[in-house]
Amino acid sequence: MGESVAGVAANVAQQAPAIDVDFALIGHQECWRAAADVLAVLRGPEHPPLPDDEIRDIFPWIPPRAICHVEAGSIAGGKARGVYIDSFIPPDRLDANYMRDNLARVRGAAAYAIKAGAKIVSLGGFSSILIEGNLDQLPERHGTVFTTGNTLTVGFIVQGIKKMCALEGRNLRRSTLLIVGATGDVGSGCARCLAPVVKRVLLNARNMERLRTLAAELEADGVQVEIATGLQQFSAEADVAICAASLASPSLLLGRIAPGAIVCDAGYPKNLSPSGQMAGAKIFFGGLGQITGGLRFKPDFQGILNRHPFPDVVHGCLLEGMALALERRFEPFSQGRGFITPERVEEIETIAARHGIFLAPLYNADGPVEDGVECLAGWSAG
Ligand SMILES: NC(=O)c1ccc[n+]([C@@H]2O[C@H](COP(=O)([O-])OP(=O)(O)OC[C@H]3O[C@@H](n4cnc5c(N)ncnc54)[C@H](OP(=O)(O)O)[C@@H]3O)[C@@H](O)[C@H]2O)c1
Repeated sequence: MGESVAGVAANVAQQAPAIDVDFALIGHQECWRAAADVLAVLRGPEHPPLPDDEIRDIFPWIPPRAICHVEAGSIAGGKARGVYIDSFIPPDRLDANYMRDNLARVRGAAAYAIKAGAKIVSLGGFSSILIEGNLDQLPERHGTVFTTGNTLTVGFIVQGIKKMCALEGRNLRRSTLLIVGATGDVGSGCARCLAPVVKRVLLNARNMERLRTLAAELEADGVQVEIATGLQQFSAEADVAICAASLASPSLLLGRIAPGAIVCDAGYPKNLSPSGQMAGAKIFFGGLGQITGGLRFKPDFQGILNRHPFPDVVHGCLLEGMALALERRFEPFSQGRGFITPERVEEIETIAARHGIFLAPLYNADGPVEDGVECLAGWSAG
């Protein structure tokens, strides 16, 4: 007998665990397959999987809620306890048309984190983009602080670019670097970290005024900069590209890049369109770290909330909150847009490394990009 949409949504919404937490992670699912897996765990193994169309009907009716406990271990000893709160934004509703509903969802998730007594909250993926400028509209915070997690994300993107260049025998100093979404929090942080070590930078976003402001800042430090709102307008091809635009779905076509260019897709959801033709490009997913002191979810969402081919890999934005919780440094480390500097990146990387949080092995849709790195059993490429 079929279950009603309202019935399933109410059942899933009720099962909030009792919580006692250092940190909260606010997230949303990147694709419908991930959303279906989350629902399956919440409903329990006694319920058969729901058909795809029912999942799409039910999902928007589930309010933001905690779905599991998270325990993060440090290599220095000690643990931090947290909770993962899903805002249940339907994966195909990230675009501007759903802005009000999505903002309400992230606010609901943030209120949940405050009520749970989280000392620090990491804002995953679009959560920080949506709530940016609206944090003052949250309920009274009682000591809960928020971090976008973007500083550690930038650190892992930059480390990934340097590692990929080393693996491919490329000289970053002779490279032209393209950043798509350059004026964003992640993009501008990457620009500040990498501009001093490349030959020149190409900055792309839609708003020309903001591009001019960033270009002026970099040029003042002697960087060679070109800006354009269209990717075809640049005078040179990029050898290295970072894709960090806030795109609602993987729709970016990079077009003209150098043959064999190194391309980092740091978007969540991914930026790059699967149909993009980039012959010989060395693509990897950026901004990911690995927590080597141990990571546990209860109930077990391993491989569902972190869908990567290696164990204990998590997005930098969420890891930043865990690293700060392990350090017992409950402060809004990353806040606002456009304030990420190389000094702050170094500071958060040092904190993360002290607790065993390092750059994750690099991979893309086909699997690992490094030789000799084993995938988790059961992980499927594509
Ligand atoms: N890997 C990770 O761990 C991680 C962590 C945090 C964030 N992220 C992801 O990184 C991306 C950026 O996040 P953010 O916090 O930096 O966002 P943000 O501050 O809102 O910046 C978004 C940037 O994208 C640009 N943009 C938007 N649409 C564009 C388009 N169609 N073409 C070119 N540029 C476009 C924006 O400028 P204009 O509006 O002027 O175009 C802006 O420069 C998101 O996908 C986010 O989910 C990943």
